[in-house]
Amino acid sequence: MTKLSINGQDHTIDAPPDMPLLWVLRDIVGLTGTKFGCGIAQCGACTVHLDGVAVRSCVLPIAAVGDRKVTTIEAIGATPAGRKVQEAWRRLDVVQCGYCQSGQIMSATALLTTVPDPNDSDIDAAMAGNICRCGTYHRIRAAIKQAAKEA
Ligand code: FES
Ligand code: FES
Repeated sequence: MTKLSINGQDHTIDAPPDMPLLWVLRDIVGLTGTKFGCGIAQCGACTVHLDGVAVRSCVLPIAAVGDRKVTTIEAIGATPAGRKVQEAWRRLDVVQCGYCQSGQIMSATALLTTVPDPNDSDIDAAMAGNICRCGTYHRIRAAIKQAAKEA
C-alpha cells in the first residue's frame, strides 16, 4: 500500500510501488485530465505538481512521491497562479486539440509560482519539455505573459 495526497485528499493505493504515478492517477483514482503521451518523459502531457514543482508522472514511481503533495490539472484552478493561467488560456483561446494542454498549464503554473514575471528565455526553459503537435506555442507564450501581468 502506498499513501498519496492528491489534490488535498489522502489516498491509500493498492498497487506495486514501481507503478508510475500517471497510471495511478488515471486508472485507479480516476483523474483522467492528466494525459499519456510518450511514456518516456519527452512530451510533457503527463505533467503534474509535487509540492508545486512540475514533474513527469509517466516516469515517476509512486514509491518516489513520499510525503510530497500531488496536484493535477483537476485542482490547479484552486491555486492563485493556476487560476490566472487558466483564465489567460481561455481569454487567448490557446487550446487547439487540447491533448497537450493540461501538461502545458501545469508547467506554466509551476513557472509563474517561482518566476512571477518571466521573460522569453524563462518561458522557453520552463516550457521546453512540453510538446504541442498543434503548434500553439505562440499563444502559450502570450497567455503566460498575460497571466503574469494579472497576477
Ligand atoms: S507522457 Fe510523460 S512526458 Fe510524455
Ligand atoms: S493543442 Fe493539440 S497537441 Fe497541443
